[in-house]
Amino acid sequence: MDRVVVKTKSSAETIRIGKNIGSRLLPGDVVALVGELGAGKTQFIKGMAAGVGVGRPVTISSPSFTLINEYLARIPFYHIDLFRLQWEKEAEDLGLEDYFQGEGITAVEWADKIPNFLPKELLLIHIAYTGKHTRSIEIIGEGKRYLTLIDQIRRAKIGVLKQKE
Ligand SMILES: Nc1ncnc2c1ncn2[C@@H]1O[C@H](COP(=O)(O)OP(=O)(O)OP(=O)(O)O)[C@@H](O)[C@H]1O
Ligand SMILES: [Mg+2]
Repeated sequence: MDRVVVKTKSSAETIRIGKNIGSRLLPGDVVALVGELGAGKTQFIKGMAAGVGVGRPVTISSPSFTLINEYLARIPFYHIDLFRLQWEKEAEDLGLEDYFQGEGITAVEWADKIPNFLPKELLLIHIAYTGKHTRSIEIIGEGKRYLTLIDQIRRAKIGVLKQKE
C-alpha cells in the first residue's frame, strides 16, 4: 500500500486532480471512491472521465436509477454509484464483477458499501470535507499496478502532495 494526499480549495481544483489521474488510467483499472455526502466524489469522477477522454461537455452526473452509466472514450468508462444500494448482496445482480474484470475503466462511488465485492487491487480515493470549499483527497494504491500509478502521481506533483510517511 502506498498513498499520497492532495488538498484542494475548489471544485475546479478537485476536477483538475481527477483529470490528471484519469489521463493515466489504463484498461481494466478500478477506482473506488469513498467520502460523505457532498464530499466531491462525483466532481472528481467528472475530472477523471475527462482525463480518460470522455467527450464534449462532460455530462457526468450520478446515475439515479440505473446505478451504472457507461461512456465511450479511448477506453470505455463506467461510472457506478452505489448510494442507493441497500444490501451488499444486490451488487451481484448489477454484475459488478464483470465490470471489475473487464477491459474498461470502472469508477465506483460509495465503494465502502461493497467491501466484499471490491477487487483486492485498486486505486482508492478517499475525499474528506475540511471546510466549505476545501477537501483532503487521499489517494491510496493497493497492488502492483496501483503502486506504479501512485508513484507516477507523486512524481507529477499534482496539487500539494504529501510524501510517503
Ligand atoms: N474542493 C472541492 N472539491 C470538490 N467539491 C467541492 C469543493 N468545494 C466545494 N465543492 C462542492 O461540493 C459538492 C460536491 O458534490 P459531489 O456531487 O461531487 O459530491 P459527492 O461526494 O458525489 O456526493 P454524493 O455522495 O451525494 O454523491 C459540489 O457542490 C461542489 O461544488
Ligand atoms: Mg456523487
